Amino acid sequence: MILPVYLYGQPVLRKEAEEVPEDYAGLKELIGNMFETMYHADGVGLAAPQVGLSLRLLVIDADVMGKNFPECEGFKRIMINLDIVESSEETIALEEGCLSLPGVHEKVERASKIRIKYKDADWVEHEEEIEGFAARVVQHECEHLDGHVFIDNISAIRRQLNKSKLNNIIKGTARCSYRAKAVGK
Ligand code: CO
Repeated sequence: MILPVYLYGQPVLRKEAEEVPEDYAGLKELIGNMFETMYHADGVGLAAPQVGLSLRLLVIDADVMGKNFPECEGFKRIMINLDIVESSEETIALEEGCLSLPGVHEKVERASKIRIKYKDADWVEHEEEIEGFAARVVQHECEHLDGHVFIDNISAIRRQLNKSKLNNIIKGTARCSYRAKAVGK
């Protein structure tokens, strides 16, 4: 089932998300719905707060970026209770977008390599080192779990330049090709 994507301005996107308990009812169904929602919207990652649930859960499938970023080839993950345990000092700035901010694209500086810990849908713990654009996707999604969105990282001037776009998203008048839930609608 395709879920509505909560847009910028929705309070759930500003909350610190809760750990997912192991007995969370309907977890696999929720994960399936999140993938369906993400693919429908042509996204490569989706965090639970973006579908209105304040949970430390995210889904990623960055395979479509594999042409430009080989590290993304086959990079499909379900991450529960994710923790970034180490970030490289080396950073790289590249353009990003977000399903919760349709039409907004800005360069964001992020660590080029990270080490993470998370559980998969079967509650198996994983520790992984990820780099390149795949690391960027994970950092972007992880930020959602802490109540942040990618434009929090840009300069005040760049934010100002996006002001009318952001206001339209809040009002619910921004162009959006998928089911979305704006504050003003
Ligand atoms: Co996002």
